[in-house]
Amino acid sequence: MTVVDQDAARTRPSDQARQAHVLRAAGVSLVLVTAPDGLPEVLHWGRDVGPVGTIDTDELLLAVGRPVSPSAFDAPWPLTVLPTERDGWEGRPGIAGHVDGLPLVPRWQDVVVVSDEGLVTVTAVSAELRLRSEIALDSAGVLRVRHAVTNHGAAAVHLQALEAVLPVGERAGEVLDLAGRWTRERTPQRRTLTHGSHARESRRGRTGHDAPTLLVLGTPGFSDDAGEVWAVHLAWSADSVHRHDVLAEARPLLGAGELLRAGEVVLGEDDTFTTPDAVFVWSDEGLDGMSARLHGSIRARPGHPRRPRPVVLNTWEAVYYQQDLAPLVALAETAADIGVERFVLDDGWFLGRRSDTTSLGDWQVDPAVWPDGLRPLVDRVRELGMEFGLWFEPEMVSPASELAAAHPEWLLQRPDDDVRTWRNQHVLDLANPAARAFVLESMSAVIGGHHVEFVKWDANRDVVHAVHEGRAGIDAHTRGVYALMDDLRRRHPWLEIESCASGGARVDLGALEHTDRVWPSDTNDAVERLAIQRWTEALLPLELIGSHVGPEVSHTTGRHLDLDFRMAVSLFGSAGIETDLTRLAPAELDRLRAWTALYRRSRALLHTGRLRHLDLGDPGLDATSVVAVDRSRALVRVARTVTGPQSLAVPVRLRGLDRSRRYRVAPATGIGVPRGLDMVPPPWLGRGWVELSGAVLEDVGVRLPMLAPATAIVLECVALD
Ligand code: GLA
Repeated sequence: MTVVDQDAARTRPSDQARQAHVLRAAGVSLVLVTAPDGLPEVLHWGRDVGPVGTIDTDELLLAVGRPVSPSAFDAPWPLTVLPTERDGWEGRPGIAGHVDGLPLVPRWQDVVVVSDEGLVTVTAVSAELRLRSEIALDSAGVLRVRHAVTNHGAAAVHLQALEAVLPVGERAGEVLDLAGRWTRERTPQRRTLTHGSHARESRRGRTGHDAPTLLVLGTPGFSDDAGEVWAVHLAWSADSVHRHDVLAEARPLLGAGELLRAGEVVLGEDDTFTTPDAVFVWSDEGLDGMSARLHGSIRARPGHPRRPRPVVLNTWEAVYYQQDLAPLVALAETAADIGVERFVLDDGWFLGRRSDTTSLGDWQVDPAVWPDGLRPLVDRVRELGMEFGLWFEPEMVSPASELAAAHPEWLLQRPDDDVRTWRNQHVLDLANPAARAFVLESMSAVIGGHHVEFVKWDANRDVVHAVHEGRAGIDAHTRGVYALMDDLRRRHPWLEIESCASGGARVDLGALEHTDRVWPSDTNDAVERLAIQRWTEALLPLELIGSHVGPEVSHTTGRHLDLDFRMAVSLFGSAGIETDLTRLAPAELDRLRAWTALYRRSRALLHTGRLRHLDLGDPGLDATSVVAVDRSRALVRVARTVTGPQSLAVPVRLRGLDRSRRYRVAPATGIGVPRGLDMVPPPWLGRGWVELSGAVLEDVGVRLPMLAPATAIVLECVALD
């Protein structure tokens, strides 16, 4: 056995020169320490440990510096921000590839670390590459890490991986990430953290119904409101790797990066590859604490939607492909009458589109369906005081379309390849400037010509064996998709875009840099939606999550659901309606009118407040609350999906109120109160309200009626002083 010379390890002269750089915000700090040679190392990411002046780097390195274990490299080694075998790291590398067949294991020199205003920048040079890494901490305590490498030599650099990683506390013991499928997106899966380099790969060419969305490592038993968690999300709408490494000889690492196909990124001289941002968040208040930081960070973006999120009417589940002027005008009139603010004409308006078998790419109004164009409808929608929105699927082309006949060479595939269709469609190569310009011009003509305020941007297939100019093309195509979105928004600055992909297969912060809300799922079944929205909310604030009141019978599940339940679920989002209102009874329209009024009066709260999920100890219950920033008001939705073990409903204990203020708690007007299964309802409900202090509401709670499955109650709490 090797006996380590402890003194030698502690007093290496080069350690004396090491410097700490500290990022601090909102109770989080990241301590980065420069190395004698090579890239710097993150020594701490988690709770704030004070300003840089209070951190004595020498002492810190003595405290947590690495010993040398038996059967290991002979000298201590740093776990750098881009770890490779050269450092001593034998887990999944931060950077990998080859130059002329020689493995790319850069020896970084001329390392310069600069910290300024919440940003640490690391620059370095190797024989092959120049590196620029940025680690930024924003005011919500969320970190964004981005690497860029430039080839400064003549030999081509074949890049295989460039990923962001950060170390997490050794006390992490459990892993949570999300999976899913069509109409069941973002389903959590949880397991014990085990040794090894674990990579969750996504190869769907779009974000995917089963995207991990968030990879969370946490202390054992972490919950909605307790425990320490470290999470990562890749702000990217295509192939990805979310990874964690637990090796016996190092701190656990958490990270993410773009999944690069063989030959996809080959850097010629002076070419640069920049990673999407990996978004890292730590919290010691469980998953809701993590989400609060993410929501704060997202809401602080300069491009975050600031106008109130309008009540939407989407025509899809109202008329599907049956588009006719008269019934759609009647629908628009009914919609305006009950308080809808944005009318969105879904799939079926363009050349020859009567089903999902044809026409993608032919973005001209179909004269067979719209003999006078869309004008009569659009004008009526405007007269009624609503915005007008339109569905497009810009990246796609149907084999049966004029576009496919004119430009078979614009497909994102090898010309001679036999790529499987999916929903009868192929993918256009949006990295091809000519294809992109064509789509831009044809969309612009319709959007500009009708002053379309909102585009529902769909993408209804996975993208497989994608080839652009003889190389794997997902990366180039995805950047082309973003560029097209940006070009459209530049041309039509009023335009808002919804990110939809067969429902929720494009829910990520990369897409949201170029769009204004997501469509989380093709199921409007409110029972299914409760779970889908709960886990979409782990990443996104409510104002970015489209949520529509669907028909009484869900077309994805066949389930019948009461209108109050559907309205209660849709209220907590960017709300809308997706059903044929012209078939509803006047009494139902009255209920919807009262609900849109409740949404309009509550959206400022719902779209700025602090979201929390309340654990009532019953898996059949979903309890979600939003408390205003000034704690003057809160909305709480308690929904039951299946029956529970208790005969009496347990009191709901609220969180985040001002403990010293008194609140009046009452069912929100605008959504009916379910009768409940109790023989005699809880006493306060007879009177219709109860007044209690924040402390009592938090520690004792309010007993609800015994909810039947698929019913919900929405409570409003208003501070009295
Ligand atoms: C996708 C979307 C739906 C609808 C249809 C139209 O499935 O997710 O909301 O727009 O396409 O074809």
